[in-house]
Order: sequence, then C-alpha cells, then structure tokens
Amino acid sequence: MAFSEQILEEIQSKSDIAEVIGSYIPLKRAGRNFKANCPFHKEKTPSFMVSPSKQIFHCFGCGAGGNIFHFVMKFEGIEFPDAVRALAEKAGVELPRFTRSEFEQSAYAVQIYKINEFAASYYHSTLLKTEAGKRAAEYLEKRGVSEETITQAKLGFAADAWDGFINFAKSKGFETALLERSGLVISREEGGHYDRFRNKIIFPIFDIKNRVVAFGARVLDDSLPKYINSPETEVYVKSRHLYGLNFSLQAVKERDFCVIVEGYLDFLIPYQNGIKNIAASLGTSLTESQARLIKRYTRNAVILYDGDSAGEAASLRGLDLFVQEGVNVKVAVLPKGYDPDSFVRSEGTAAFNSLIDSAADLFEYKLGILTSRYDARNAAAKSRVCAEMLPTIARVNNAVLKFEYIKRLAERLQVREEDLLTELKKVKPDYTYEPSADAVAATDVCPGAKAEKILIGLMLDDAELIAEVQKHLKAEDFADEKTRKVICEIFKSYAAGKALSAAGLINCLEGDNLCSIVSEAASLTEIITDRQKNLIDCVKNIKEQNNKNKLTELRNLINVAQVMGDGKKVEQLLAELSGLLRSSKEFARR
Ligand code: UTP
Ligand code: MN
Repeated sequence: MAFSEQILEEIQSKSDIAEVIGSYIPLKRAGRNFKANCPFHKEKTPSFMVSPSKQIFHCFGCGAGGNIFHFVMKFEGIEFPDAVRALAEKAGVELPRFTRSEFEQSAYAVQIYKINEFAASYYHSTLLKTEAGKRAAEYLEKRGVSEETITQAKLGFAADAWDGFINFAKSKGFETALLERSGLVISREEGGHYDRFRNKIIFPIFDIKNRVVAFGARVLDDSLPKYINSPETEVYVKSRHLYGLNFSLQAVKERDFCVIVEGYLDFLIPYQNGIKNIAASLGTSLTESQARLIKRYTRNAVILYDGDSAGEAASLRGLDLFVQEGVNVKVAVLPKGYDPDSFVRSEGTAAFNSLIDSAADLFEYKLGILTSRYDARNAAAKSRVCAEMLPTIARVNNAVLKFEYIKRLAERLQVREEDLLTELKKVKPDYTYEPSADAVAATDVCPGAKAEKILIGLMLDDAELIAEVQKHLKAEDFADEKTRKVICEIFKSYAAGKALSAAGLINCLEGDNLCSIVSEAASLTEIITDRQKNLIDCVKNIKEQNNKNKLTELRNLINVAQVMGDGKKVEQLLAELSGLLRSSKEFARR
C-alpha cells in the first residue's frame, strides 16, 4: 500500500463520512445512522446505510461497503490513490507524494539520484572492504548469492551504527536537508539526524535507466520486520517500479515474456541461475503502473508467487490486473513451501524452466482454484464460480478470446453458453457483478457465515469481547475463508495491543471483498442490544455448523474404510465420531 496507515487514519479522522457521502447522494437520518437508496444498484426501498460513529457504509442489498475511500473510489470510478488524494485535499491533509511531472523536472531529483548513487557505492564498499561487512558477505554466501551478482546488483551492507552514512556523506559535502529528503537519513525530534539503514543488507533499487531510485534493506537474522525500504521521494514512487527489470529488459524483449516474482532474492537467485527474463514486484500487490511498464517490452507475463495462500490470492489479483491491461498472463504454481529462490536452488534451472513452461493460462488457473474451493456440481456452487469468473473474463479485451473463455466455462460447468453471455453483460464497467437475487441467495453456501460476521461486528464494537471469543473459537474455526482472514487480522491487532475500529481495519485489509465483510459486520451489530447473549448464540451456531461438517466428513471416511475392509481404521474413526458427538452435546447444553 502506497499510503501509510497513519496518513489514511488522519484523513478519515478529519473527514465526516456522512458529509462526504451526503455530498454525492441524499441521506436520510435513521437514529444514529443514515439511510439512502443505494447508488450502486437499483432499489426502491433504502438498504444502504452510513454509520458516522464507525466511519463505514454498507448496502445490505448488493453488499457494497467500506470506508470513505471505497465510497469515493466506487462512486467516481477512480483508483484508490486518486480517492485518497481527493479526500486528503478536502480534509486539508498534506500527502508525502509528488506528481510525475513535478519530480521529473525538479532540480532536487537530480541531486537525489546523485546521493542515491553515492550511498549505493558506500554500502557496497562497506560490504566488500570493511571488517563489519564480513558478516554480511557470509550471510549472502550462505544464501547462495555469487560475487558476480553482488557486483552487478551492487548489493551492500549498512553497518551497525547510527551515523556511519550520514557522517561520511557530510564529509563529502552533502547537505543534511537533502540527505533527509532522499530518505537515507531521518531527523530526530530533539534535533539532529540518524541513518535509516543500520545493520542491514542493502539492495539498491534501480529504474530502467539504471539510476538508483531507492533501497531495500534486509536484517541478517530472523528479526522483524524482515525488510525495510526507502520512503517515497521525488524520484521514487513504489508502485511504478519492478526490481531487476533494468537487468532483464533485453531478455524480456528477446524471449517476449517476463516472469514476475515477489522478492529481491526471488529475482536475484533465478537470474544468477540463467533465468534472465524476470523481475520482482517487491511485495504482493501488482499495480497498474507495473503492468504498463512491462507492456512496453512484452505482452506476455508469467506470475510466479510463493506456494502459499497469500501467493494464491496475490496471483489472482495480478491476473485481473494484467488481463485488464491487455497483457496475456499465465500463472505458474510452486510446490507448497517454496519460493522461486528456494525452488531454483534445490531443484535447478531446468526444473524452474519447465515449471514456467507448464504455467496455466488465466482461465485454467482461476477455474482450477474455484472448482477446488466450491463443489461445482450443484447449482449454487456453479453460480458462485460464475460470479467470480465473469468479472475476470469481462476484462479480456479481445472479443475472440473472450468468447473462447465463455465457451470453455460453459463446457466445464455444464451450463448453456447463451446464459453465460447474458450474465456476462451484467458485469458493470467497474467489473462488479451482481447475479440475480435468487442466485445470490443460492450462493450463500456457508450457513455459519452470518454468525461469523456478527462476531466480527461485536469484537469491533467492544475489544473486550475479543478475549471472550478467543475463549471459545480459534481463527481456524471460522469456516468462511474471507471471514477467517478478517478474524486473523483482528486477532493479530489485538495481540499487538492495537486499538481497532471498523474503518481502520479496512485499511489493513487488501481486497474489496474483505472490506465489505467488515462493513457488513459493523452494520449487523447496530441493532443488537444484548451483546453477551448474541456472542454465545453465534459461537454455538458456528460450533454446531463445524461439528455438522466434521460429522459428515467422518461418516464418509467411515464408509470408505468399511468398503476397504480396514477394520482398525473404522474403529478409530468411530471413536472419533462418538467423541465429537459427546462434545457437541455438552456445548449445546451450556
Ligand atoms: P517474503 O517474506 O516472501 O520474503 O517477502 P523473501 O523475499 O522471500 O525474503 P527472504 O528470502 O526471506 O530473504 C517478499 C517481498 O516482500 C517485501 C520485500 O520486497 C520482499 O522481498 N517485504 C517483505 C517487505 O517489503 N517488508 C517485509 O517485512 C517483508
Ligand atoms: Mn525467500
């Protein structure tokens, strides 16, 4: 995320959500809240609500929801950063950002490039030529980074001191104000300055003209945060760069595709091992600017993210983005637990290349995930798969290809092409899609979902209830995948002692779906008076639902074991079954 949480919160605290939304659509007061006809779908009776105390909006009709940023984004059809900028201006909050034309022309930019170049050389020679650098050199050796790579990528080391760089830079005549502006040094409240990067491996980030625009820095052990980075400056807007593209440009053009990975070492190690057409997005969310950057050199990309659920989610997002930008995109899947760096080291270049060759096209990849998530044989699940596939297919510009995808989807789901084409037309220009009312009802396949959301709402209303919920449920007990992600974030913040609000939580969550879960959750508790009773009811409901699922699963397993004639297994499963039956009865009595 390009904006810090603090900045987003400052903007929110200085804005009044009712006033902001009220400037777009007429709001009617309803108790502490406001009602309106939802601007995002057609309706005659208002199901759209705005809560000034929670700083959120939610529509119970179409599920749209979020905080002020999301409202402005959705209503005006603009990107998140533009919504933030507009609201910041309205609220009188100054953003630490520069427009492209401003920074390209500014004399400061030239000086910051110079300082960055100077700093990269300084850190590089600290790594190679000083006693302190030895530990870092050993670390890089252990990670399998060759000397040639260290030289080419100009890797470095920032020694464990508060003023190593600043003193050296000052002795060479660089002004402190400029050093601060480059992000390399930080000013102290009580006066004076100190080095931003201390006791860290340094990765200079180059732009495609080989200028150093920023730095990434990694700790040498397991401490957190693992990486810190330069702030955005006159020469660095994070979302516009891909790490390593300056080195791989030529190969990307020649091979006419680019492998996109996530991290510094996921770029360096494969590159060193002969995979030359590769670049790193530095963090999981690909941006439009990055897609456009690639498009200057090739129309083909293969996304290769970590083999975990975060990697999967990031791949799905990246996929839509590339499709929308007209880049042909495929997704390669790493075995669980691997990242590109560890995979190429343990399996070798040939295996890496065949992984890339076997990358699935967007259709196969996404449909594969969806069909494994939902059992696509029943009607509800089919419409759920469609609801997620159609917005992606709608992004495909090429009409022939688009029709090809529809045909394949129809075949796979055993539905009629005509019906899919009709549904495809309902995907809106902002790529939102609402299946017809019955379809929505049919798709709510997770019966405990409502109880899960109410619990989220209760915990957001009153942080003391978080401990109460934790007494009964673990994050894994939440059956709905999206809800579970929200719960994890709540538990994480709570463990870190952070105060939590619905609007603040939304800022920590990536993805539209999650933010409407939060807004819905926050709205659901508006009418609840007896929190304690509702909490226990929801917990019971969730436990019962989970038990039901587990019972079905166990019964299936027992059938299988019986058919296989595995008496021992049957016995063991039966014991498990009766244990489960007992514990669910006990809880129900409470
Ligand atoms: P990962 O956590 O996958 O780390 O983050 P990695 O790249 O595999 O790092 P190693 O192999 O443990 O050294 C992927 C990328 O996300 C960004 C960095 O760009 C990182 O390379 N990141 C990650 C951060 O900016 N900050 C963090 O604290 C963690
Ligand atoms: Mn790694």
